[in-house]
Amino acid sequence: MRTANGWRNWGSELSRLDWAGLNKHVWATTMKAPPEGFSSEHQPVLLHEVLDFLMCRPGGIFVDATLGLGGHAEAILQKIQPGGRLIGVDRDKESLERVRDRLLPYAHSVLYFHENFKNLPLILNNLDLPPLDGILADLGVSSYQLLSPERGFSFQGSGMLDMRMDRSQTQTAAGLVNQLPEEQIADLIHRYGEERYARRIAKAIVRARSQGRISQCAELARIIESAVPARGPRSIHPATRTFQALRIAVNEELEGLEEFLADVLPFVKPGGRVAVISFHSLEDRIVKRTFRKAAGLCVCNRSPELCTCPREARVTIITPRPATPRAAELKDNPRARSARLRVAERI
Ligand SMILES: C[S@@+](CC[C@H](N)C(=O)[O-])C[C@H]1O[C@@H](n2cnc3c(N)ncnc32)[C@H](O)[C@@H]1O
Repeated sequence: MRTANGWRNWGSELSRLDWAGLNKHVWATTMKAPPEGFSSEHQPVLLHEVLDFLMCRPGGIFVDATLGLGGHAEAILQKIQPGGRLIGVDRDKESLERVRDRLLPYAHSVLYFHENFKNLPLILNNLDLPPLDGILADLGVSSYQLLSPERGFSFQGSGMLDMRMDRSQTQTAAGLVNQLPEEQIADLIHRYGEERYARRIAKAIVRARSQGRISQCAELARIIESAVPARGPRSIHPATRTFQALRIAVNEELEGLEEFLADVLPFVKPGGRVAVISFHSLEDRIVKRTFRKAAGLCVCNRSPELCTCPREARVTIITPRPATPRAAELKDNPRARSARLRVAERI
């Protein structure tokens, strides 16, 4: 039965169901139809590619910086037995609680940290580990977060406008839309959502909030829908970009990504790899640029005489073009359609 406390109280009811069963249960009890692009089973994105690129072997030491539902972590753990170890990080405490159950068979091989991955160097400094074989970061939100109405990530959900990955932080999406000046809302939607109707949407938000606080996801989705021209039959929902922008802002998703990628390199052994899956161009640009910089390549795009980019190479880029999901994966998991995987190898 669903209670005010949400998912966690479904434990006994769902104890004998697998994740596919859990997801079907969610559709049945909380949603009329699955959100666009989500399949009824949780599938880690680009799983085969991640395992191949990370060259997971028995005895390997890996970091999963974004444990989520543990799909990639479980597959990595299978490959690195016996003797392998995994350091698992997520800023979402509820996800960590769930993933612990899933990874119980590997309890002796996993260390969990409820942290922002930008603090990974601190974590690693405090662990007496040999250099790492690899690090994975699968950026963005998990399907668990998207599907939990009370987490307030989805414009199709019935929950409060929240969007915090780490619920101990104070800033929520409702806070931003109800408190920021119109200009700042427009800038945020434009910058993080690359939304062409950012100004119209910001105006509509400010008009609506003058009538009363905007607190529900569905309410904000309606305001956005009313502010933009009707969409074509195949285009994305008009609220998609604004919700993405708010999520990025609430969780400060782009801040620290470059530092994280640069700062973790010294912890990876020569020949070890860092793999990053991103889901939108803003993230992918940062990953591409950071890897290029670390590879001693130019990132300033100036002519060679004017370029002052440091040319010391710390990595080799393994994916000059990002790996993307194959048709078969997209058929099973349309949510993977925007995924891009970039990999760099420590020299
Ligand atoms: C796309 S999901 C990962 C899914 C996972 N690979 C799997 O197979 O289930 C992204 C996860 O990363 C977490 N996350 C996002 N940004 C983070 C950050 N800066 N630090 C730590 N965790 C983060 C989110 O809370 C979410 O659980």
